[in-house]
Formats: sequence, C-alpha cells, structure tokens
Amino acid sequence: SEQQKNEQKQKAAEAALDYVKANLPKQAVIGVGTGSTVNFFIDALATIKHDIEAAVSSSEASTERLKQHGIRVVDLNSVSDLPIYVDGADEIDEHKRMVKGGGAALTREKIVAAVADTFVCIVDESKQVGRLGGFPIPVEVIPMARSYVAREIVKLGGDPVWREGVTTDNGNWILDVHNFDIVDPIHLEQQLNNIVGVVTNGLFAQRGADVTIVASAAGIETLK
Ligand code: A5P
Repeated sequence: SEQQKNEQKQKAAEAALDYVKANLPKQAVIGVGTGSTVNFFIDALATIKHDIEAAVSSSEASTERLKQHGIRVVDLNSVSDLPIYVDGADEIDEHKRMVKGGGAALTREKIVAAVADTFVCIVDESKQVGRLGGFPIPVEVIPMARSYVAREIVKLGGDPVWREGVTTDNGNWILDVHNFDIVDPIHLEQQLNNIVGVVTNGLFAQRGADVTIVASAAGIETLK
C-alpha cells in the first residue's frame, strides 16, 4: 500500500542519515537529491544541520525544503569536494544501475552524482527490478529538438511520449520513453546521449550508485 511505501521510504531515509553520521567528515558539504524519499532524508538531515557545512541541491524543490529547515545551500561551482550524495531512484537493478527522473530533476541529479565520491541510493523495495526499463526512461531535451529527438528514439526501438506541461528547472522538456528492451543500459545511455538536442537521459548506468539502502517489510538492507 501507499502507506507501507511511505513508511519504507522514511526508514530508508533514516538509515541514510545513520550512514551520513558514520561516514561524512565534520563540516563537509553533502549532495542532496530530489523526490519523496529524499524529502524524508532532508527532514532527517535537519537534526544534524550544525554538523554539516552546507548542502548542494539537485533541484529547486529540494533547495526550498533544505532552506526551510535552515540548511545552507551552496552552488556546485563553489565546491571541490563532495564526499556523499544521497538520492532516490525510480528503478534500481542488482548492479546498482538506475532509472531516475520521474520528478524531472535528472540533469542536475546526474551532475551532482558525477561530482560525488559516494552515491547513496535510498529506495523502498518496490524500486528493485531485475531489468531496467519497466519505468519509462525520462529524456530531457532542448524544446526545439523535441520532435527530432523523438524520431531518433523511435529508431532505437523506444516509444517516446512528451510529458506535456512539464518544464524542467533548466527550462527544457521531457520525453518519457516506453518499451525499450534494455539489455545493455550503459550502451543505451550512451546512444541517447549521442542524439543532438538531448541534454540528459534518466539511465544512471555509467555512473550508478555505490551504496544502496533498501527498506522492505523485512527491515533495512545496505548493499555495497
Ligand atoms: C527525480 O527526478 C527522480 O530522479 C527521483 O530521484 C526519483 O523519481 C525518485 O523519487 P521518489 O523518491 O519520489 O520515488
């Protein structure tokens, strides 16, 4: 049920806070993702806000929530060292490869993840999959390239659907690609990146997670 899912999201977020307490150096900057699971993490992070220097945020929504808690948010360009990034996922496989971007924040998420030493992915058990792609792959596009990119994606075997009415924090649009048969996520991530007009795609395979914290009915499992 939704309630069980929310309880699991909260448990995963609390376990991530324990991970941060144990592994983040004092007065370091922490990377913060986006979404309903991360919202629980942000609320938990507020309890140790005096032990951290600041946060780097992956979306306007997370920035606002961090600031509401009195957590300072700094620009990624002012940060040279980001030990830990905590974020959720829409799907994660056993190799810690993910699909992300259900909340349209994929581009900033991928950038912050690229800078971070350790990507800690927090999920409820419903996000664990044997094969990626049941969740449509979000692709952020420059608006004028939308139709061209959609045609190129069809050539790759996907069925793109424009997420009409949604504009990303970067002023771009999203195509959700259904029905990809994803045998090699790293290869598909590269192929999508090669289409002119694509800003970012929601496959996080080249740079997957380093640690997964899964909350299930049985409890918390940390996979390294
Ligand atoms: C945001 O664009 C996404 O990448 C989120 O990280 C992902 O959708 C997970 O969100 P929930 O925690 O709300 O499921």
